[in-house]
Amino acid sequence: MTYEFILVEPQFEKHIALIRLNRPKELNALNLQLMQDLKHALYQLDNDDEVRCIIITGNEKSFAAGADIKQMENANAIDMLNRDQFETWDQIRKTRKPVIAAVSGFCLGGGNELAMTCDMIVASETAKFGQPEIKIGIMPGAGGTQRLAKAVGKALAMEMVLTGKFISADDALKAGLINKVVPVEVYLDEAVKLAKEIAQQSPIAIRLAKESVLKAFDSGLQEGLYFERKNFYMCFASEDQKEGMNAFVEKRKPEFKGK
Ligand code: CAA
Repeated sequence: MTYEFILVEPQFEKHIALIRLNRPKELNALNLQLMQDLKHALYQLDNDDEVRCIIITGNEKSFAAGADIKQMENANAIDMLNRDQFETWDQIRKTRKPVIAAVSGFCLGGGNELAMTCDMIVASETAKFGQPEIKIGIMPGAGGTQRLAKAVGKALAMEMVLTGKFISADDALKAGLINKVVPVEVYLDEAVKLAKEIAQQSPIAIRLAKESVLKAFDSGLQEGLYFERKNFYMCFASEDQKEGMNAFVEKRKPEFKGK
């Protein structure tokens, strides 16, 4: 199966599938088509009996630098509501097989939210994690406020979401956001090693166990996600969103007015 913005190897290794996000020039910014590709590929791999574990990766420079700002720049709140882009994310979250994110370089905004939607994260020493949406006049919309807070706790989640600061792979490990940090040359190999350990277990037990661990995080999450989503759409009613995204595209510093 070929896609526009991802590369898929259903048998990268025995029982292990690899999905590579593939918009290198845009640092793998997650546009709508890429997310559709990803949703479709995950569904296919989830229903392929030969696949027992799935790895999602980007390239050394960037896992993903967030949702595609250029696709949202001129959208209003109702455009965003009608676009319903997060339905794709809901589908991705329903993948029954374990999904590992192998992260190097930028893992920002929607990119960090995608990594957190995966079940585990293996990172290179060069990885940088952040939710920088605040710097373009919006806030996370694909689960960032909920999943980050659950993963790293309130203090660090608040700091990251309210300042947009990036944290290093070592700090992400200490905070419990990721599973492992390894040299950049071997981050994919390490993810494959972890996938192999999982792939040798019972696929049924793995499925049920994954479902059960996720349940621990579910109580209250759905409500939180819908709350977050409405607020994310509301950001597109502001002038600051336009200013923030225009400034990004024009490569200048934004001037926010609180309007
Ligand atoms: N959307 C669209 N294009 C992006 C992008 C994004 N999120 N991130 C990077 N790009 C593009 C840049 O526009 C640039 O394209 P051109 O060459 O055509 O100008 C190219 O990728 C390379 O980027 P930079 O020149 O900016 O590279 P850099 O090394 O100087 O900076 C960076 C890297 C710090 C990651 C910077 O690109 C950046 O700040 N990106 C935006 C990060 C961000 O704000 N992410 C959140 C998006 S909103 C979101 O994700 C909402 C949500 O919750 C769903």
